Amino acid sequence: MDTLDYLLENNARWAEEMKTKDAEYFSRIYDVQTPKYLWIGCSDSRISANMTMGLKPGELFVHRNIANVVVHTDMNCLSVIQFAVEALGVEHIIVCGHYNCGGVKAAMENVRFGLIDNWLRHIQDVMRTHEATLEAIEDELNRFYKLCELNVLEQTLNVCETTFVRDAWQKGQNLTVHGWIYDMREGYLKKLGIHLGNREQLESFRRRVIYK
Ligand code: CO
Repeated sequence: MDTLDYLLENNARWAEEMKTKDAEYFSRIYDVQTPKYLWIGCSDSRISANMTMGLKPGELFVHRNIANVVVHTDMNCLSVIQFAVEALGVEHIIVCGHYNCGGVKAAMENVRFGLIDNWLRHIQDVMRTHEATLEAIEDELNRFYKLCELNVLEQTLNVCETTFVRDAWQKGQNLTVHGWIYDMREGYLKKLGIHLGNREQLESFRRRVIYK
């Protein structure tokens, strides 16, 4: 039987290293977490949100699911957003997709995996919304990468339309919603020109970028 002891040994080494660098580190974050950022990303094992941005435990609140989808009836994701915005008072929500996303690819190729097909329907909705843009791209890889980006765009807008973000903006709370993408080939995060800090910016972004 594999007891995974080697993982616990890794953990013990890591905890020692952290305490060597900063003796008070764990006791300081024990009682209270004050992350400034909420990360909504893909479950993909090749991405570590904290590591990618050089953030320590306590600095990033995280929600992940397959293909970083934000659905208005997903109680899990909605609960995370509400807690992050209303209780933790995060200042930034980062929706981060990634190129070569298996979920996006499966949706694009319309392959069948079972239950997850229903989840990936949301990405097929994105495809339908942006049909003309996608169809104009001849190269299949570029079309796939564009869909990864458009999925971030739509999911970022979905975050902005949640009651919690709308209420926070109405109250004048300092909260910006960002759309980013991660390039696994090089390890870089890239901004997609989406950073919305209030309702007016959202409306103007919609007019400028989506309905132009
Ligand atoms: Co993915």
